[in-house]
This record gives sequence, C-alpha cells and structure tokens, in this order.
Amino acid sequence: MEIRLDCDGPIGVMDSGMGGISVLRELAGLLPHENFVFYGDSANAPYGSRSTEKIYQLTEQVVQKLLKRGVKAVVIACNTASSAAGARLRAEYPELPIVAIEPALKPAVIACPGGRVVVLATEATLRERKFARLLTEWQGKAEIIKLPLPGLPEFVERGELDSPQLREFLQGFFVQLADRPVDGVVLGCTHYPFVRKVIAELLGPQVKVFDGAAGTARQLRRRLYSRRLLTTSQQPGSIQWLNSSPEPEMIELSKKLFTITI
Ligand code: DGL
Repeated sequence: MEIRLDCDGPIGVMDSGMGGISVLRELAGLLPHENFVFYGDSANAPYGSRSTEKIYQLTEQVVQKLLKRGVKAVVIACNTASSAAGARLRAEYPELPIVAIEPALKPAVIACPGGRVVVLATEATLRERKFARLLTEWQGKAEIIKLPLPGLPEFVERGELDSPQLREFLQGFFVQLADRPVDGVVLGCTHYPFVRKVIAELLGPQVKVFDGAAGTARQLRRRLYSRRLLTTSQQPGSIQWLNSSPEPEMIELSKKLFTITI
C-alpha cells in the first residue's frame, strides 16, 4: 500500500479494545486541533494472553485499516501490541510515524528510589523483550515486582469500573503484596487507568500511581513536529470512533470512557 502523509490527515490510535481511550484523552488534550481515528479491536480483546505472532497479526490488520482512512501517524495505545508488534511494524512501514506506549517504569523508579514498585500489565507485555530491556535499565534502583492481571481488561470492556466483584478480583492478586507496603504502581496496560481509583485504594494511601499516557502524547507531538506533520488547522479537532465488535453499544461506551473522570 502506498502511504502518503498529509499534515491535515487524522492520527490513527489503536488498542485491543477500550483501554487506548485512556491514552486518546491525553493525545487530544495535548493536540486539540488534530483529528483522530480511534480503533478498538474489542472483537479480539483481550490481546494480553495471546501469542506474540497472533498479537502482531491483529495489530497489523488494525494498522492496515487505519491506513485506509488516510492516517498520517499511528499511536499504538496498547502496551501489549507495542511490545509484540511495535518494532516489526516500524520495520514494515518505515515511512509511517508509529508511536508505541510502554509501561511508565522510569518515572516510577525515579519517584520511588529504593522503594517497592509494582508493574501491573498483561502477561504478554511482561514476557516480551521490550519490557526485559526496560527492567534491565531500572532494576537495582528499586525493588521491581511484575504482576500480570489476566481478566482485568474484560471488566473495562463491559464498562464495569467499580463493583464488589472487581474489588474481589483485584484483592485476589494483591494478597501476594500484602507483606509490605507498595510505594509505586505502574499501570502498564491502557485498560487499567479506568480502574485507577480502585487500584490505588486497595494498595493504600501511600502508593503513587503512574501510567504512560502523558509520555506517549509528548512523544507523538515531538514526532509530528520533527516530520512537519502537525496540523495547520486552528479549529477544534474531531474523533472518529471505530470498533471491531458488532455490539452497537461499544461506540457509546467509548464516548463515555473518553469523558468520565478517572
Ligand atoms: N490495553 C492493552 C494493553 O495496554 C491490554 C488489554 C488486553 O489484554 O487486550 O496492554
């Protein structure tokens, strides 16, 4: 496919489902004149327990769909897809700016030197080389604990952001941290910021919470600026919502998740 980048074209943002909306909020906040196309692959969510190859294939299909919409850049607003497919997609589409989120381990370790930092992410994110490299860079400067939470994205996909069942589900994982307080928690999956309040409450008032959305937004702005791809428009930008799920309420839920306080 021939790729022609137009500075007034939209920016494609993708996730395995609804999670990437937590990133889209930051992107649209930092770049209010840009137009966005958000693609949630809810029909195939969750990605987090799938093989690397399958995650790559699913992500690549979404990138193809976004390119057909004329996007000038793609933000992989999914840590899982970034880890499993980011480098390969960059090699495959060298002319396309691709910005990929990663767990905010760096700011967490810097804010909690020598402390106890828990990285919550999917199984795939925590097993991939991208995270291993991040860990090598930061381990020794804090106690870093990896904790996958399979099953959590499903709560967010159905809009269940606080409930006794959700609290019980999280407690089941957090019991293994109960021996000592946690100083910092990294929300290394873009679905998790939607349940940030519950996670913070369960881990205690001392815990500092980090996610990668703001860093990703700044990275996107830098990339667009350096490629002369920032929009020339001074009008408020728009968001086009796409979702692979046949269920009609997914678009309504997407819009709701974009505006609620988290
Ligand atoms: N939102 C995705 C991420 O950031 C994960 C959810 C999933 O397992 O699909 O990793």
